Amino acid sequence: MKRKIVSVLMCATMTAALFAGCGGGGDTQASGDAAKTDDAANDAADDGASEAAGDDAAADDGASEAAGDDAAAGGSDGGTITIGFAQVGHESDWRTASTKSCQDVFSAENGYDLQFVDCDNDSAAQIEAVRGFIQQAVDYIIIDPIVSTGWDTVLTECEDAGIPVIIIDRTIDDSDKYVSWVGSNFKTEGLAAGEWLKAYAENKGISEINALVIEGSTGASATIGRTEGFKEIADANGWTIVDSQSGDFTEAGGQEVMESYIKSYEGKFNVVICQNDNEAFGAMTAMKNAGIEYGVGKDVILVSFDACTAGLEKVMSGDINADFECNPLAAPDVEKVIKQLQAGETPEKEVYMTEHWYVNEDVLSSITVNGEEQALTVVTQEIIDAQY
Ligand code: AHR
Repeated sequence: MKRKIVSVLMCATMTAALFAGCGGGGDTQASGDAAKTDDAANDAADDGASEAAGDDAAADDGASEAAGDDAAAGGSDGGTITIGFAQVGHESDWRTASTKSCQDVFSAENGYDLQFVDCDNDSAAQIEAVRGFIQQAVDYIIIDPIVSTGWDTVLTECEDAGIPVIIIDRTIDDSDKYVSWVGSNFKTEGLAAGEWLKAYAENKGISEINALVIEGSTGASATIGRTEGFKEIADANGWTIVDSQSGDFTEAGGQEVMESYIKSYEGKFNVVICQNDNEAFGAMTAMKNAGIEYGVGKDVILVSFDACTAGLEKVMSGDINADFECNPLAAPDVEKVIKQLQAGETPEKEVYMTEHWYVNEDVLSSITVNGEEQALTVVTQEIIDAQY
């Protein structure tokens, strides 16, 4: 019977979210710098959800009943909760930390059976992984979507099977058939990088910006948001984006793209924006091999995203000028969502991770992003030791 109850709750949650005017996608909010847990805003949705759950429970159909009978007893009745997690892959330090966060939280000791699939950056494999979880009749499905489109059909299948879906990290643009999304505002990250570069260039008396961008994986919302955010500031300030190509969020990809940029544009750029730390490590190798000096006080300003431990070490050493955090430790927030569902409550549709902007030099204390003042943090060993 548990599946029947979960099915009803999921429908109620989605209905309530719809009435509350919630939509998918992290880039629609004004700010991404703080965890948004506006309980008051959700109270109305909560009320609607409980009512809808009550109404629908009586009218639940035979299909979800059958699924419920087969489902393992999980959670509220004291049994193990089975979770299927379709992870993007293993392309970066960030990804490793994200996987570990889920494995730590959804462990057997904590009462979970985690079915983990590394989709190796293959969108078709990721959809098949989700279908496999439906066949296994797991209690919940977690998806970190490799790309932001192509989801509605399989999410409808999850809904029909009565399995609540929680999206983490990247967003989905073409469906809202999921209970909650927990992740980052990627456009805000891109805007922050642009605002920092603007303020930094003014502070250093740099009047011309010629930037090379090494994008993340094509079609990923992390790539789309960071590209849009940075470009918005570049366009507003008349900067030249000399080229913008995908390095697939990998170190090898970053090195390959940077090597080709050096062949085409040597002497014609003074900024390199890498959309994650691993790409930045690859770009550093390419520039070092070509004798190009980058980092604090050098010819090329190097900007990165993620702020993983190794990235922050490069900020402290001055190889990377600024690093815009993307927080991979979503699993505790996902567990809160699951506990709320188990308790018959309505989780928030969107939960934003708390993130910080890290720099090497103590020359600017803050930047203004989306009209909001946001702090810049100078990296110390203590910060590195506490990072993911
Ligand atoms: O979706 C988050 C991005 O994916 C991270 O910035 C990157 O490191 C990862 O591969």
